[in-house]
Amino acid sequence: MKHLLSINDLSEVEAVAILDTATELARVSDAPMKKLPTLRGRTIVNLFAEDSTRTRISFEAAAKRLSADVINFSAKGSSVSKGESLKDTAQTLQAMGADAVIIRHQASGAAHRLATSQWMSGTVINAGDGTHEHPSQALLDAYTLRKHLMHGQKNLQGIHVAIVGDILHSRVARSNVLLLSKLGAKVSVVAPPTLLPVGVHSWPATVSYDLDDVIPNIDAIMMLRVQSERMNELYFPNAREYSRYFGLNTDRVKRMKKESIIMHPGPMNRGLEITADVADSARSVIVEQVSNGVSVRMAILYTLLTGEGIESGALA
Ligand code: NCD
Repeated sequence: MKHLLSINDLSEVEAVAILDTATELARVSDAPMKKLPTLRGRTIVNLFAEDSTRTRISFEAAAKRLSADVINFSAKGSSVSKGESLKDTAQTLQAMGADAVIIRHQASGAAHRLATSQWMSGTVINAGDGTHEHPSQALLDAYTLRKHLMHGQKNLQGIHVAIVGDILHSRVARSNVLLLSKLGAKVSVVAPPTLLPVGVHSWPATVSYDLDDVIPNIDAIMMLRVQSERMNELYFPNAREYSRYFGLNTDRVKRMKKESIIMHPGPMNRGLEITADVADSARSVIVEQVSNGVSVRMAILYTLLTGEGIESGALA
């Protein structure tokens, strides 16, 4: 495997191997000296044409903990904001000797375009392309679910996860539906009909328009941000109405299973898709998702750039 563009690039075995590698690498993150020499001398470029906090710093931390040289390249402040094309940007990165490019772009398919072009020869990792996919987020979510709910089991067989909200604009939802179902979980997507994409009924997930119906049966709930910046028309009457039917609040949490967990990829609209008290509650693993993201992204870089994973217990 050279690139990570979509969850479809991974078999179940490969996905589990990345999660296992991440589990081993988490030990490095817990140690006082947070570094491994694995990628010393390699150059990794963070090419972010769209805003990001968590994903960008997480990939940067991951690359640095593996001793790679990291170049951060964001649209603002670079020639991308002067209209430079993806092709010219890619050729510049090639000239600088980039071994891997982590790309976030507003166009669905941008990562794929880069990987299949002759413009550059390095590894391409999709860090979010338009409304299409965000595979590293799905892997860190699967890692978080496995850690909390699976008691040593390697895949996610037997659990039920609901993904709730703006499914239409969410690359996180698309990648998660593909990955969690591949790992054996039952997935429900819950949203108003206006926020579901055409073709959702062919996804490996059940579709529901009623959050209260789903709430008592799930082991984890993944709340999605309402992506107003991608909305050019009215998808729901108003914010109050949205929260009432599709927001996660204390009353709904009380009806969830005792051991269930609450997730959100961030950034959150507190008070819209999730109330502040629920986001900060003991059942919420939202902050932990961010730290798990670093270990999982280390595992992705490690696997793609060395061509192998780390077996369980190898770093103990
Ligand atoms: C998500 C993204 O950018 O796709 N955030 C993230 O990567 N943590 C989700 C979002 O923007 O709502």
